[in-house]
Amino acid sequence: MLGLKLPSDPRWVNIAEKNLEDILSDHAFCEQKAASTAISLIVSFPEYTELVQEMIALVEEEMSHFNMVHDIILDRGFTLGRDRKDAYVSRLLQFFPKGGSRTTQLVHRLLYAALIEARSCERFRLLSEHLEDKKLAKFYRTLMISEANHYTSFFGICKTVWRSRRCGSKMGSFARL
Ligand SMILES: [Fe+2]
Ligand SMILES: [Fe+2]
Repeated sequence: MLGLKLPSDPRWVNIAEKNLEDILSDHAFCEQKAASTAISLIVSFPEYTELVQEMIALVEEEMSHFNMVHDIILDRGFTLGRDRKDAYVSRLLQFFPKGGSRTTQLVHRLLYAALIEARSCERFRLLSEHLEDKKLAKFYRTLMISEANHYTSFFGICKTVWRSRRCGSKMGSFARL
C-alpha cells in the first residue's frame, strides 16, 4: 500500500530500542518538520485553497504529535535533544529535479511529503510490532495509522493536481483516489 521499494532493515528496531532518548528526540523533530513542510506548502502555493485547508489541519495534527512525543520524553526523565541533520531526507530532496512549472514543483513537493509519510508509517509499524515496551508500542500503532492517512492524503492531492493541470483548475475537490 505504501509503495516503498525497499523495507527498513529489521535490525533497526533493536538499535532504536537501545537508544530510546535519541530516537524519541529524532521522532519529535520529524513531527515538527512535517508541520513545517505543511506551513511551507501554504506559503508557496496559497492559491490552492483546498491544499491550504488540508495543510492547516495537518499543521495542527503534526504539532499535536510533537506534543505527545515531547510528553513521553519528559515522562521518561529525558530532555528533548538538539535537532540533527537527516541524511535520508537530504538524499530524497536531491532526487527531485529543481525548477519546472509551478504545478511540477508542487507535484514534486507533494511526492516528497508522501514518501516521508510512507517511511514514517513503515517505521512506526515496526516499532508497534517489535518494541518490548508495550505502552510505547501502542502509541506507535496509533501514530502509524495517522501517518498512513497523511501518505494517502498527500498522494491523493498530488494526483488531483497533476490531472487538473491541463484545465488550469486549482484543483476542484480532492477525490480520494
Ligand atoms: Fe505525525
Ligand atoms: Fe504525518
